[in-house]
Amino acid sequence: MSKGNYYVTTPIYYTNAKLHIGHTYTTVAADALARFKRFTGYDVKFLTGTDEHGQKIQEAAEKLGRSPQEHVDEMVKSIKSLWNTMDISHDVFIRTTDEKHKKGVQKIFQQLYDQGDIYKDFYEGFYCKPCESFWTQSQLAEEQACPECGRKTELAREEAYFFKLSKYADRLKKHFSDHPEICYPETRRKEMINNFLEPGLEDLCVSRTSFDWGIPVPFDTNHVIYVWFDAVCNYITALGYGEDHDRDFKKFWPANVHIVGKEIVRFHTIIWPAMLMALDLPLPDMVYGHGWILFAADKMSKSKGNVVYPEVLIERYGLDALKYFLLREFVFGQDGNYTNQTFIARLNADLSNDLGNLLSRTVAMVEKYNGGRIPEAGAVGSVDDELLRTVASAASKVEDHMEGLQYHEALEEIWTVIGRTNKYIDETSPWVLAKDEKDKPRLDTVLWNLTESLRVIAILLKPFMEATSAKIWKQLGLTEEMHWDDAKYFGKIKPGVKVEKGEALFPRLDVKKEVEFLEEENKRVAKAQQEAKEAAENPRENTGKITEKPADTSTAEPADNAKGGSPAEASDKKSPMATIDDFAKLEFKTAKVIEAKAHPNADKLLVLQLQVGSETRQVVSGIAKDYKPEDLIGKDVILVANLKPVKLRGEKSEGMILAASNEDKLVLGTLDGEIPSGTVVS
Ligand code: ME8
Repeated sequence: MSKGNYYVTTPIYYTNAKLHIGHTYTTVAADALARFKRFTGYDVKFLTGTDEHGQKIQEAAEKLGRSPQEHVDEMVKSIKSLWNTMDISHDVFIRTTDEKHKKGVQKIFQQLYDQGDIYKDFYEGFYCKPCESFWTQSQLAEEQACPECGRKTELAREEAYFFKLSKYADRLKKHFSDHPEICYPETRRKEMINNFLEPGLEDLCVSRTSFDWGIPVPFDTNHVIYVWFDAVCNYITALGYGEDHDRDFKKFWPANVHIVGKEIVRFHTIIWPAMLMALDLPLPDMVYGHGWILFAADKMSKSKGNVVYPEVLIERYGLDALKYFLLREFVFGQDGNYTNQTFIARLNADLSNDLGNLLSRTVAMVEKYNGGRIPEAGAVGSVDDELLRTVASAASKVEDHMEGLQYHEALEEIWTVIGRTNKYIDETSPWVLAKDEKDKPRLDTVLWNLTESLRVIAILLKPFMEATSAKIWKQLGLTEEMHWDDAKYFGKIKPGVKVEKGEALFPRLDVKKEVEFLEEENKRVAKAQQEAKEAAENPRENTGKITEKPADTSTAEPADNAKGGSPAEASDKKSPMATIDDFAKLEFKTAKVIEAKAHPNADKLLVLQLQVGSETRQVVSGIAKDYKPEDLIGKDVILVANLKPVKLRGEKSEGMILAASNEDKLVLGTLDGEIPSGTVVS
């Protein structure tokens, strides 16, 4: 029978960049909790997903020359594939571009407007694009920097809708004092009280007009709903809130826990609860703001180029190794440093030595001293009691640690059992007992106790390291279904079961070699990112041969350079061969520039009007450094005419014009003679 319902969520991740082990950390933690709760008898709903709206994402898409929808669709594929590789057991994956979510958010916005909790006014303040956060002058760090990430904010002035956050300040304060679990750990709660609740809350700007990639305000479509208002609603729209048929909302709301990183605790413990109060809905039981994984004492972040990606670690060391490391190495709630050295050292010490050796020694001894069959216990010894007590008491201690999301302590507890069992081998020296037939009854007990310990260890590990747990089970020769409560009793294995020796669980690693490998890998990633950044900043550093000069090649596909070495090397790089069919997909036409002007939002871009036969086309092109608009009028150029239109920094672009460029200059591809515009070039 179910012990009850349990709803756990991760943040929904932005779709503007590839996820790194920081994101993986939160998801692995939520996954372990969901697995633990399912295994211990709860009916679990585990939600994750993607946050797809906002200015940052619109701009990331524009840089790549894609529409925002195409961009987020691509990113979501890669995020889903990562969770698949990592065997993440989520029940729901929500996208904020899902129709149901959009409708739900609009309904919530409308309701708050109708009841007077949202009103229209004029916003003037500072906006941090990377954090998608509004700040007042007094909250800013030096030089108008965002107090959260330290990057420069920009002044925003626009007509906007506001949510009456201030109205809920007193109720929030009371809730913080009556229900401290609304913000764990305690350090974060104090931060929220001292930095936000005590100084007083201002109303929150909840709409934007300077870009359009968002959910429209239902009654005023010049505005899109602020991305954080949109995003936090996912926790209830994913359950069907706002739909005609309540899918799971009644069953799973309020959430048992929202797991988030510390930098977004404010949104989850102040803004989101105030919105829920306005909606007259119960607040989540717990919000847990965990610490950051730091790399060289700095927050891992793609824009800083100090990122470790999970794929390489999983491929080389296995999924369970990464999961174990993340949950064991870092104290949940505090920041911790990632180094390759600590990663490899932990795998060797805990996984290869402690756990791997315990299993291989035990199975080998059962094979050698009892023909591969688990014996029946015989003579009891004085050291047995302590082992039995340690093993049988571990499960309830793990339960206690998991109540407070103390993963590292839960795993430490399991390793106490592993350590105690290894010590038991040393204390009882089975190889000595095996020398004398009269010691056989004692030897049998020792072997039986060892296999029993391992049976319990396999059960305890299951929520954290599913595959490893299954391998231990198999090597012990066990076939029955695992039950958590069976870890609370010692003495369940049936004598006579045949063990099955298998491969080493975690082969021992050569620390020096592996650290060198990982350092090379970090350098490669950092170099690729630096090059991608440079390519994005400098439109000329793409290639030395004639290229399609897209509207904004400067930023069109930085990832290509990311793979290709330095810009100089990039020019020597061979492109993959195209077939005649590939070529036939593109349509080139002659075109005459009839109008040209600077792009209103980007220095490197020009907005051109082209005559293409009887048609006029607008094309945005990254040629502003090399051509003045007035010099272009009347020039005949070559247009890639059948490219899908995109918006570049807010201006529509219907094709690209060809240009040749090297590190110093760029020249347009033109025609050697008169021919009418619109003529096909082949
Ligand atoms: O903030 N260490 O999305 P996001 C630990 N879309 N955790 C880290 C980390 C690091 N170095 N870097 C990232 C957003 N994280 C919003 C959330 S929720 C309604 C909207 C984790 O893609 C951590 O959980 O920037 C952090 O809160 C989250 O990724 C931020 O992901």
